[in-house]
Amino acid sequence: KMKTPYRLLLVFLLVWTAWASEPPEGEDLSFFVPDIPKVETEDVIKLLGQARALYDKASESPATAQAVATALSVAVVTLPPVPLYRALRLAKDIPADAQKYLPAAVDLLAGIRSFAIAPACLDRPGIPHTTAGQFKYLIAANLFDCEAIMPYWTLEVLRLALLLQGDQRVLSAFFHNTSSVHVPPEKGLTHISIYESGSTDNTVLWLQVAEALWTAAGIRSFVVTNGSLTRQTLMDPYNGKFYKQHRIQFLATLRNAALEPLYGAPRGAYDYVYFINDVFFCAADLFRLSHLKADIACGLDFEVWVGEKKGRMPGVTQRFRRSLLSTPATASTAAVAAAAAKAKNSSSATPVWHAAMKRMSEVHLEESARQAAADARTQVAKVKPRYEFYDTWVSRDLGGNPFVKVDPITRDTRTIDGLHRGWPIPVKCCWNGAAVMSAIPLANGLRFRAGLVEDGECDISECSLFCEDYRRLGAKRVAVDPSVRVAYLPWTKEFHGKLPGGVGAKVPWVHLERNSGLTELEKQWSDTQGCMSVQCIPLRRGTEEADIHSFRVIDLAANNYTHMFLEQLKQPPSPPFEPQSCNQIMGPYGATNDGSAFDDLSISLWGKNPIQRVTYTANSTLNSLQVHYGTASAPAHGGSAGDPGSLELQPGEYIISALVHFDDTAVHGMVFGTSKRRSVTIGGQNYTMGILPRGVSKAIATPCPGASAHVGRYKLIAFAGTADKVMRSLTLIWS
Ligand SMILES: *[C@@H]1O[C@H](CO)[C@@H](O)[C@H](O)[C@H]1NC(C)=O
Ligand SMILES: *[C@@H]1O[C@H](CO)[C@@H](O)[C@H](O)[C@H]1NC(C)=O
Ligand SMILES: *[C@@H]1O[C@H](CO)[C@@H](O)[C@H](O)[C@H]1NC(C)=O
Ligand SMILES: *[C@@H]1O[C@H](CO)[C@@H](O)[C@H](O)[C@H]1NC(C)=O
Ligand SMILES: *[C@@H]1O[C@H](CO)[C@@H](O)[C@H](O)[C@H]1NC(C)=O
Ligand SMILES: *[C@@H]1O[C@H](CO)[C@@H](O)[C@H](O)[C@H]1NC(C)=O
Repeated sequence: KMKTPYRLLLVFLLVWTAWASEPPEGEDLSFFVPDIPKVETEDVIKLLGQARALYDKASESPATAQAVATALSVAVVTLPPVPLYRALRLAKDIPADAQKYLPAAVDLLAGIRSFAIAPACLDRPGIPHTTAGQFKYLIAANLFDCEAIMPYWTLEVLRLALLLQGDQRVLSAFFHNTSSVHVPPEKGLTHISIYESGSTDNTVLWLQVAEALWTAAGIRSFVVTNGSLTRQTLMDPYNGKFYKQHRIQFLATLRNAALEPLYGAPRGAYDYVYFINDVFFCAADLFRLSHLKADIACGLDFEVWVGEKKGRMPGVTQRFRRSLLSTPATASTAAVAAAAAKAKNSSSATPVWHAAMKRMSEVHLEESARQAAADARTQVAKVKPRYEFYDTWVSRDLGGNPFVKVDPITRDTRTIDGLHRGWPIPVKCCWNGAAVMSAIPLANGLRFRAGLVEDGECDISECSLFCEDYRRLGAKRVAVDPSVRVAYLPWTKEFHGKLPGGVGAKVPWVHLERNSGLTELEKQWSDTQGCMSVQCIPLRRGTEEADIHSFRVIDLAANNYTHMFLEQLKQPPSPPFEPQSCNQIMGPYGATNDGSAFDDLSISLWGKNPIQRVTYTANSTLNSLQVHYGTASAPAHGGSAGDPGSLELQPGEYIISALVHFDDTAVHGMVFGTSKRRSVTIGGQNYTMGILPRGVSKAIATPCPGASAHVGRYKLIAFAGTADKVMRSLTLIWS
C-alpha cells in the first residue's frame, strides 16, 4: 500500500505532466524565426543619416550619381546568400571613382542587414536571366505597420530591381555566365512605387531609409509615406446612417495609389508591374516569374503554422490579410536631420574598405549563426513549423475553382501533374502575396476596383476582379510557378523542398526547358482561351468574411462588368448624392423585422399636436417609448424593463435634431437637440463620449443630414417603429 505522501506526490506529478504537455499561454510561436537584435528608433535614424549622405553625394553630379550607384550595386552583391568570396571577385574590377564610395555603401547595407530577419534564400537559384534588362518594370507595394519586415524587404526589393534592370554584377553573383546578357541602353529600367498610410510603428522611418538608398542606387523611386488614404466612415445622405467604407473599395484605392506613377506616365512607360505585399521573398525567385511572360504570374504564398496555431511575430502586419494593434513610435524631423548631419560628418572620415568588408563578413557570420540557432530550436521543438498555402480566396485553378489547402491545392486534373512536379501551371487567377502583371491593360485605363454589386456583380476581392477584368480584356495567360515561394513569416531550409499541399520541390529552369514544361504551359494556355467560367465566393453581406456557402459559377462572357466599369470611369465623377428635396421620414433604424409595428402620426394630427413629453424605460437598449402629443397621449410601445426616464419640452420648444444609436437588433437611444439649444439623451447609455461599442451604429436622423443649410429648419412631429419587449426599430417623422 502506498503511503499518503507518495500518493499525493503521484497525483501532483500526474496533474503537473498533464498541465506541462498543454501549450502554455503566451507560447512562443516564432521559435523558428532567427532572433535579431532589438532595433531602436535611433538605430534606424542613424541608418537614415548614412543613406541620406550617399543620396546627397549622388545628387551632386551625373558622374557621382553613376559612381555611387556602381558602389551600391557591388555592395548588394556582398549581401547573403551570395558567398563573400564570390562577391569579392566581382568587387575587384570596379572603376576608381566608384571605389571611393564602396566602403560607405557596404557599411550602409551591412547596417541595414544586421537588423534584418532574413529567411534563407538559395545562392544558386536555378533560374534563367534572359529577361534581364529587356523590359521596363514598376515594382509597387502598399505598406502598413510592418517594421519587422522592412530591413530585409528594402534590400531584397533593391536586389530585384537591379536584377530586372540587368545589372551585370548582381546577375553575375547568381549566375555562372552572364556574358549573354546585353542590356540595351535605356531599355531596361525599373522604378519603385510605395504607398504607405496610417502606420504607427517605424515603417515610415524605414521607408525613408529605403527611398534614399534606392534612389542613390539609381532606381527611380516614388515613395509616399503618411499618405492621406485611410478607411473612411461615410454617411448615407438619405437616411443619415454612418457606415465604414467597403473594405474592398478601400484596398482597391490603396493599390491604385501605389500605381499612380504608371497611371500618370505615357503609354508604354512600363511593360510589367511587380506588385509585392509585405511578404518575405527571395529576389531571384521573383525575378524568375518575369520569364513566364504571362499576363499575370504568381508564386505560392504560405503561412507558417505551429500545430494548430498560426506562427506569429511582432512587427508583421499584412494589411491585406488582417490588422493588428501596434505600438506607435515617432522620430522628430529634427532628430533625423541631426543624425543625417552627423552621418555626413562622420562619412567625411570615410569608413575604409577593409573595415566595411569586415563588417559585412560579420553580418554573414551572425546571420548564419542566428539561422543555425533557429534551426536548432526547430530541431528540438516538439511541434515543427508547418507550411500551409494561404491565398485560397483569390486563387482559381484552370477550371475556375478555388485552390484548397490540401493536396492537390489546385484540383483541375489538367494541372495536378504539373503541380506535383513543381512546374509552372496555368490558372484562372492568382495573387499569392506577390504577382507580376502586364502593364498594358492598366495603361489602357483599367484600375483596381470593387465589385459592381448594385449591378449584380459578385462582391469579391479587388485581386479576383482584377483577374476577371484581365481575362475579359483578353489577357488570359495566367500562371502559378510553384518554385517561386513567398511567406508571411521567415522560413526554415525545408521551404525550398517539397511542401504540404502536393507542392513539388523547387525545379531548376533548365529542367523545365528540357522537359518541355514551358511548351506544356503554352499549350494549356491556348487550349483554354475560350473558357470563361470562374467560381465566385462573395463576402457575406455587410461583413468582411467570404461566405463559402453562397458560391456560384460566373460566366465572364455573360455580363461585361469590365466594360461597365470602364464606361463609369469615363463619366465625370458624380457630385456627392444630394436628395432633390429633403427626405422628411428618417429611418428606419434598428431591426425592422422584429416586433409589431406602430405609427403615432395620426395621433399627432400630422404635427398639429406637437410633441410635449416623452417617457421611456431603458437598460442597455431602449425598451419602451410613450409620447404625449399636445393633449393626446399615444400608447406606450414596447416592454417595461429597465429604468424609467422622461423628457419634458417647454411650451414653444421643439426637437430640431436627432441622433439615433442602434444595432442590428434594437434601438439603444437617441440624442435630441431642441430649439432652446438643449441637448437631451433618451436611453440607458451615454454614447456621447468616445468610440461606439462594436456593433453599435449611429445615424443623424435629421432631414438632409449632410447639408448644413438645413440645420434647424425641421421639427420632429412623430415617431413610428416596431417594438416587442424592446424598441426594435424607430422611424422619425419631421415637418
Ligand atoms: C557564356 O555564354 C556565351 C553565350 O551563351 C557563350 O558564348 C560563352 O562561351 C559562355 N562562356 C563560358 C565561360 O561558358
Ligand atoms: C501625417 O499626416 C497627418 C495629416 O494628414 C498629420 O496630422 C500627421 O502629423 C502626419 N504625421 C507625420 C508623422 O508626418
Ligand atoms: C559637423 O562638422 C562640423 C565641422 O567639422 C562641425 O562644426 C559640426 O558641428 C558637425 N556637426 C555635427 C552634427 O556633428
Ligand atoms: C468587355 O468590354 C471590354 C471593354 O469594352 C472589351 O474590350 C472586351 O472585349 C469585352 N469582353 C468581353 C468578354 O465581352
Ligand atoms: C434589458 O431589457 C430587455 C427587455 O426585458 C432584456 O431582454 C435584456 O436582457 C435587458 N438587458 C440587460 C443588459 O439587462
Ligand atoms: C453624457 O456624457 C457627457 C460627457 O461626459 C456629459 O456631458 C453628458 O451630460 C452626459 N449625458 C447624460 C444624459 O448623462
